[in-house]
Amino acid sequence: MANHISNISPKILIITLISIGFNNYFLPIDAEETGKALIESTCKKTQYPEECISALESDPGSFTANLTRLTRIAVEKSASKLVETLHIVETLVLNATDYLTWGFLVNCRDTYNISVPQIQRGLQAFDRLKFDKSYESVEAVNNAAIGCDRQGWTLPILTQVNRALFRLTKDTMMILHLLF
Ligand SMILES: *[C@@H]1O[C@H](CO)[C@@H](O)[C@H](O)[C@H]1NC(C)=O
Ligand SMILES: *[C@@H]1O[C@H](CO)[C@@H](O)[C@H](O)[C@H]1NC(C)=O
Ligand SMILES: *[C@@H]1O[C@H](CO)[C@@H](O)[C@H](O)[C@H]1NC(C)=O
Repeated sequence: MANHISNISPKILIITLISIGFNNYFLPIDAEETGKALIESTCKKTQYPEECISALESDPGSFTANLTRLTRIAVEKSASKLVETLHIVETLVLNATDYLTWGFLVNCRDTYNISVPQIQRGLQAFDRLKFDKSYESVEAVNNAAIGCDRQGWTLPILTQVNRALFRLTKDTMMILHLLF
């Protein structure tokens, strides 16, 4: 009986190994898996991988994207995060109750407002494969977030949105740098 089992087992083992190999061979054809793997391996090269992954995965296009396309999505996400942050700062300006707070919030708003057309030009530069110019436009937003945060430490909501914008733009810069 024992002899019988030991005769069969190697055959089962071989069949199992072949079928595992067969499955692995065909896995990369599944675009969703490839995309998810690319998102993760790309984001691992950034400073804030978790933020990077969640930003990229919020766009369904990321799952079928190559690295170039994925990078453009990262720049797009940075641009929309900037606009979102600008809107929050605009609300904070209207809500400001003392002159000093109002003053620095206006400063933040203006800096962010200037960054919007800049990053839009950065997206156009990206499409002309001027990745270094695109990088500079994202870097400008990152610097704006640093500048605004330096002034806004008294407002927790501002600290929170500035940090999110800082992290996403930092990650986007690191991904962009993989292209040039
Ligand atoms: C990446 O995909 C885009 C389409 O989204 C395509 O135009 C481009 O040639 C691809 N780049 C590479 C390096 O395969
Ligand atoms: C601004 O004030 C309004 C009304 O007081 C409030 O509903 C809103 O949440 C405030 N916005 C922010 C960003 O604090
Ligand atoms: C923001 O910039 C736009 C141009 O992009 C300008 O028309 C608008 O007046 C600016 N808003 C503020 C509040 O400065």
